[in-house]
Amino acid sequence: MSDFLWWRDGVIYQVYPRSFADSNGDGIGDLPGLLAHLDYLNGAPDSLGVDAIWLSPVYPSPMHDFGYDVADYESIDPSFGTLEDFDRLVAEAHRRGIRIVMDLVMNHTSDLHPWFVESRSSRTNPKRDWYLWRDGGRAGHHCRPGRMPNNWQAVFGGKAWEWDPATEQYYYHMFLKQQPDLNWRSPQLRARMFEMMKFWLDRGVDGFRLDVVSGYFKDAAFRDNPPALGLRGFDRQKHIHDSDQPELMGVLDDLRHLLDSYPERMAVGEVGGDAPRLAARYCGNGADLLHLAFNFDFTGQPWLPRRLQESALRWEAALHSNAWPCYTLSNHDLSRHATRFGGGPSSDRRAKAAAALLLTLRGTPFLYYGEELGLGDTPIPRSEIQDPPGLKYWPIYRGRDPERTPMPWNAGPQAGFTTGCPWLRLNRDYARRNVAAQQADPASVFNFYRELLNLRRASPALRRGRYHPLLHQPVTAMAYLRESAEQTMLVAINFFGWPVQVTVDESLLGRRWRLRLTSTPDEGARVQGNSLRLAPFEACVLEAE
Ligand code: NOJ
Repeated sequence: MSDFLWWRDGVIYQVYPRSFADSNGDGIGDLPGLLAHLDYLNGAPDSLGVDAIWLSPVYPSPMHDFGYDVADYESIDPSFGTLEDFDRLVAEAHRRGIRIVMDLVMNHTSDLHPWFVESRSSRTNPKRDWYLWRDGGRAGHHCRPGRMPNNWQAVFGGKAWEWDPATEQYYYHMFLKQQPDLNWRSPQLRARMFEMMKFWLDRGVDGFRLDVVSGYFKDAAFRDNPPALGLRGFDRQKHIHDSDQPELMGVLDDLRHLLDSYPERMAVGEVGGDAPRLAARYCGNGADLLHLAFNFDFTGQPWLPRRLQESALRWEAALHSNAWPCYTLSNHDLSRHATRFGGGPSSDRRAKAAAALLLTLRGTPFLYYGEELGLGDTPIPRSEIQDPPGLKYWPIYRGRDPERTPMPWNAGPQAGFTTGCPWLRLNRDYARRNVAAQQADPASVFNFYRELLNLRRASPALRRGRYHPLLHQPVTAMAYLRESAEQTMLVAINFFGWPVQVTVDESLLGRRWRLRLTSTPDEGARVQGNSLRLAPFEACVLEAE
């Protein structure tokens, strides 16, 4: 596998560090905790076998948005550890063949970041234009509170402008008022950000996940957004002026140059808005702009083969032929897919089928910690909600705490996550659904992920091969080929709890197929004539002989 490129051929695993493993009993996960569990991820005989960790933010932060409000880009929050811990993490991860992807939150900072403290100190401060300051009212009029510079709304609710009495201007925040947006049109800010990226690259970091990359630039004239149909204020606008401006391409180009000056570095962008077209645009021609971009169209689909297949095809069609797709089913902002796709008694069988899809489509899979255990959301009572949008919109929206609960390591006290009181309650299933139990059970969701990861690593067709769906508008099952010069794999997935018969092109099934993997080993896939019989929720991979 000499041409193995980690971010294209490998599998990336998202760690939400607050919830992964706590080493000091304060109930909050930390870097030493993660270090102690690296063998779980790779490098030991019973490891899951992932190639990289995407680490959600670990920078100093007042934690209004749990780290996505950064108060210092070049250090580590004491609740997570120290820079020395981070350096150890990079070294130990690399020793196990695991790359480290840092989460870079460059659309905004915390209001406690020294840059903002300076910026808000006076209208003439040299860092004033590092943020977006505007007078109230119509241009040329004296400013006064209550008259917003325009109609822009904050993602987390309310207006996106906050009045600052000291200097009598508004500042813009796309998220919380504690998260003022940066002005990427300032050459000094831009240069400082690139310096910061070098700081991490020189420490050995392998890649960056760019938080809300589509938001870096807003309309230079701050024009009003036009109206749209939607429930919340933010959704009742078309976001044509508060994100995705043409100047962004210059920044992405410079970023690509910077990354290309180091060996095998990667950037993946979180792109809001018009997925997958926007995500594809940010991936350019495969040699410029971003290496990868998240396409959230896929995460918006229900558990129906036709919808997921159409979404994958839209993604394939939108991307330049040399650009590379990536797929994800869950992350720290979305209900976990084990819950989203239906939960209930079939949850584990469905989780295996979903894993087979994620790990055999053409593109880099991103896993979210705990999904390899079939972990679902944890209902959080109103009195324990921590996530700001959850507090604001309860009970209409309960926030993102349910998908952020602690990793269940074992059936012991606090699931082995902490010796103290965990910052969010544990999933009530943890006595049964935990790492130790699933490692010991050959039929567990965890062991099915492991098998899939092993097969994927060993299979040139699954890693890089062409994707060719075999069924048109499928109703109950998906079937597709992954073909490379040296190998052809057939993937078939039954989405439902009854057996199905999939009829595909005779020329294919006339060939001899060897079963490489099935999620239902007792009642594995059978090829009969030109049809393939699949057991309930079966996901299988066959190789052409
Ligand atoms: C997107 C992140 O994924 C989310 O968790 C965060 O709240 C916002 N960006 C603001 O940084």
